[in-house]
Amino acid sequence: MKITSICCIGAGYVGGPTMAVIAKQCPHIKVTVVDLNEVRIAAWNDPDVDKLPVYEPGLGEIVKEARGRNLFFSTDVDGAIEEAQMIFISVNTPTKTYGLGKGMGADLKWIELCARQIARVSTSNKIVVEKSTLPVRTAEAIKDILQYTGSGVQFQVLSNPEFLAEGTAVDDLLMPDRVLIGGDPSPEGGDAIQSLVDIYATWIPTDRILTTNVWSSELSKLVANAFLAQRISSINAISELCEKTEADVNEVSRAIGADSRIGPKFLKASVGFGGSCFQKDILNLVYISRSFGLTEVADYWEQVIIMNDHQKRRFALNIVRNLYNTVSGKKIAFLGWAFKKDTNDTRESAAIYVADYLLNEQADVKVFDPKVSEKQIYADLDYLGSRDPDQNRLGLSVINDPYEVCKNAHAIAVLTEWDEFKDYDWQRIYDSMLKPAKIFDGRNLLNAQRLRDIGFIVQSIGSAN
Ligand code: NAD
Ligand code: UGA
Repeated sequence: MKITSICCIGAGYVGGPTMAVIAKQCPHIKVTVVDLNEVRIAAWNDPDVDKLPVYEPGLGEIVKEARGRNLFFSTDVDGAIEEAQMIFISVNTPTKTYGLGKGMGADLKWIELCARQIARVSTSNKIVVEKSTLPVRTAEAIKDILQYTGSGVQFQVLSNPEFLAEGTAVDDLLMPDRVLIGGDPSPEGGDAIQSLVDIYATWIPTDRILTTNVWSSELSKLVANAFLAQRISSINAISELCEKTEADVNEVSRAIGADSRIGPKFLKASVGFGGSCFQKDILNLVYISRSFGLTEVADYWEQVIIMNDHQKRRFALNIVRNLYNTVSGKKIAFLGWAFKKDTNDTRESAAIYVADYLLNEQADVKVFDPKVSEKQIYADLDYLGSRDPDQNRLGLSVINDPYEVCKNAHAIAVLTEWDEFKDYDWQRIYDSMLKPAKIFDGRNLLNAQRLRDIGFIVQSIGSAN
């Protein structure tokens, strides 16, 4: 089937950028992105592209080019489903917070609602594409729901997981390492796969478009994230050993990454990985493995999370220790709150947990992040439920100026690797701080030697200092 009309349910970090790029590259396809969240849709429609709900370098230009031509954002979910030949489901699949699988399994409530809505509304044949990250065999449930409508409408279910990383979403979508499409082995399944291949082949070389069965595709997404996160936990484990042995983790990363079998990427030691997906997807993998009785497999992958939690805690504890075992009433300036640079996303950011830990120690935390709003920062803290919202506002304040945030601070903690931090006037910051002026660089971002020359005491991750 030649596709001329697509709809995507879910206008989030994946749905928005993914569909914007498809619309840009395929002007002959009408792409409608729908969401229940009216505020989010209004923001996607804002004439000022600086106000889009997702900050991604290059995204504003693409939206400007395609919006109103063949890219539309709407809250009319029914209308968009009915009109589309192909429907992407790109809704959130967070870790369950209740009932069976609480804290481990994925909450598929929103996926099921989408499937039921598609089943209810459709009057013509559709290809339904899982874009969200899902536990392996979710397509079975979606197929079940779609099969028993009694309307005679035929559905094909594909898995097409997304591998973009935030902050580089546009480049990742325009030049992906690979696109993965899983479908039914039947002739109809093959046709559905081909329809989606044809869309991507408009701009992606066909040897980068991999096709598999549905289950391999669903599972590969979880496994890709688990492998990536595992590399970070591995190097973070080594960072602690480096701190005891005068080895330097940056040098170790370089030395092992030069081996082409290991490769240099994803070996940057840090305060711990964050983001909405690594933890959730590994927990999901662990949960699935346990549900099949695969205890050793589950324990193996769970260790990636245990190590990451340890790294966040260790960073906070190190600050306390270095400030003479108490931070009560001391001003700690946070540079960065986002889970990585070039995004306004804060989900599972290490900064949240480090702040929480320091607030328990009664620190006076001041935060500056170039892209994250005060509202978001308080929402993140309040969500943890560690203390009353009032207490969070007493203990932590957000300041929109990096020099102000550092003024009179006992210490600075770098939590996000924003490039602009490197270019600050560090002499000016040093002069404005209490002495000894300490910096805890959770990203090994700053030039430690230069800072030491100014007079700072610098603690980096994974070196003896
Ligand atoms: P998100 O929370 O930013 O967006 C999801 C959107 O879906 C929300 O705006 C929500 O209102 C909407 N929604 C939920 N139920 C709906 C319904 N029934 N009808 C209409 N709209 C509905 O989530 P996200 O970060 O875009 O992630 C979406 C999926 O993609 C997740 O499964 C995630 O694991 C996966 N993923 C995310 C990333 C990433 O970088 N964020 C990368 C790859 C894969
Ligand atoms: C990650 C994957 O890279 C994407 O392929 C995947 O599609 C996505 O998850 C998802 O499924 O949501 P993302 O979380 O956006 O993308 O960003 P990453 O660049 O992977 O960074 C994740 C976290 O790891 C960040 O906190 C980052 O600072 C940290 N990190 C990354 C390190 O600490 N060290 C590294 O070497 C690399």
